[in-house]
Amino acid sequence: MKTRNIFITFLFLSLLIISCKTSEKKEKIIGKISEKAMVVSARMEASKIGSDILQKGGNAYDAMVATHLALAVVYPVAGNIGGGGFMIYRNTDGTKGALDFREKAPIIAHKDMYLDAEGNVIENKSVLGAHAVGIPGSVAGLFEVHEKFGSLPFKDLIQPAINLARNGITITKKQQSDLENAKERFDKVNNYKSVFNEDWQEGDVLKQEELAQTLERIRDFGKDGFYKGKTADLLVNYVTELGGIITHEDLEKYQAIWRKPISFNYKDYTINTMTLPSSGGICLAQILKTIEPFDVSKLEHNSTEYVQLLTEAERRSYADRANYLGDIDFVKVPIDSLTDQNYINKRMSSFSWDKATPSSEISHGKILGYESNETTHYSIVDQFGNAVSVTTTLNTGYGSKVVVKGAGFILNNEMDDFSSKPGVPNVYGLVGSKANAIAPEKRMLSSMTPTIVEQNGKLKMVLGTPGGSTIITSVLQNILNVTEFNMGMQESVDKPRFHHQWLPDVIRMEPNGFNAQTISKLETLGYEILERNSLIIGRVDAILVLPNGKLEAGADKRGDDSAVGF
Ligand code: GLY
Repeated sequence: MKTRNIFITFLFLSLLIISCKTSEKKEKIIGKISEKAMVVSARMEASKIGSDILQKGGNAYDAMVATHLALAVVYPVAGNIGGGGFMIYRNTDGTKGALDFREKAPIIAHKDMYLDAEGNVIENKSVLGAHAVGIPGSVAGLFEVHEKFGSLPFKDLIQPAINLARNGITITKKQQSDLENAKERFDKVNNYKSVFNEDWQEGDVLKQEELAQTLERIRDFGKDGFYKGKTADLLVNYVTELGGIITHEDLEKYQAIWRKPISFNYKDYTINTMTLPSSGGICLAQILKTIEPFDVSKLEHNSTEYVQLLTEAERRSYADRANYLGDIDFVKVPIDSLTDQNYINKRMSSFSWDKATPSSEISHGKILGYESNETTHYSIVDQFGNAVSVTTTLNTGYGSKVVVKGAGFILNNEMDDFSSKPGVPNVYGLVGSKANAIAPEKRMLSSMTPTIVEQNGKLKMVLGTPGGSTIITSVLQNILNVTEFNMGMQESVDKPRFHHQWLPDVIRMEPNGFNAQTISKLETLGYEILERNSLIIGRVDAILVLPNGKLEAGADKRGDDSAVGF
């Protein structure tokens, strides 16, 4: 009897040890935790600069200005002063708002500016070179934010970026490859050799003296240091030299616009996100409302059923995006109808678990391949409880590749986000209609989705991502990872992602993230899967407020992204 008891005790202890070891292996991935404040961005240097500003007593808006300008130096592929973006904020008292500093079309832009005599889209004209450039909004946006909410002097917020530009940034492995890939296009577009045209290797130090001087003009003359005077002269002269159409009047007239965010409930949560001219908020609302009636948490994460449900919701939403959405200041968009639960339920009435709904049955369009897309997102929570969610971009990697001669900054190629011709896809394969046609001073439709989630009226999550058309679905999956699957922030950000956008009618999947059985079941149901080796869907930078009030960062391992806090 005694021997038997010893044996049972031994067996029990062995099982306990094995189970501990297994659970050790499965230990939850946890991101950087901080007590009070956090900045998560595409580069450690920028996150640190933002966090240092908070340490000095600055607020989230001060940190936003400093982080944004630092990214313009240390992350030139997407960080910018020559681009634009969107910001969602939530103050500690619960007030919320949105800032639109999206680029706009030049005054002499017109609907057919990218078409040839036969009415066909001229390849690359809206993507590469001076014709592709929209009027930059970033600098106006930063001054708007600083004026309304900033607490430290602007000169203190811009100085770290000036120092970084002058002293140099260290090239990372990813940056080496980004610069290598863009080199030929930098050569093609510019009529001189900018700092970006060198053979940069990992570990090299890249100094940007001309950019440092441009930032000094912004420091000394405020918004006018960019939109007027020497910087404006350099920009207009160089764009004109390259055949572009931007004028001084375009720059002087640029205004960032405060807008009301799209706010809606998803189960226990309130989602606050970007309104038009970004499609992000409307599409996110449509997709979440489409899946809300389903018991999502009962589905296995990234299983066939889960991928299927999200895909069908995304397909229907992106079809609406193509038909209805454009700059709200120029076209009437039925936002309430598009996000109405009855309308959404009706759209889903053709959904079946037994087979895919072909996109051709939802609407029509043509198919194009994919090109690189680059945008960047940063999330900030300060020690006072204010939260800022910013997505900013030059559009594709290094934008138009135009580097303003004498001023050292890169101009966007955001004009490609317009629909050059109804039904003809842009660089992301997105099609559009008259609603997103080019018009003078109109803002091009975006997918950027900076988002702040609340639970029971309290701050829960700050998130966003780059990724062109995939931005919306990456934000969606991270909201669901946390709210439905109880993941932590880093765990959520690390999870493999997938994307569907109506046209082309394929599910893009990150490689090695989905099991073969799931994929083969989806194929049997009629879904086409694209799983390319190099495919990366978004780089989410996010912050989660934990139940104990601490902050957990999710800094995307797909890039050099990094969180700094205290
Ligand atoms: N340029 C990408 C976007 O705004 O969606």
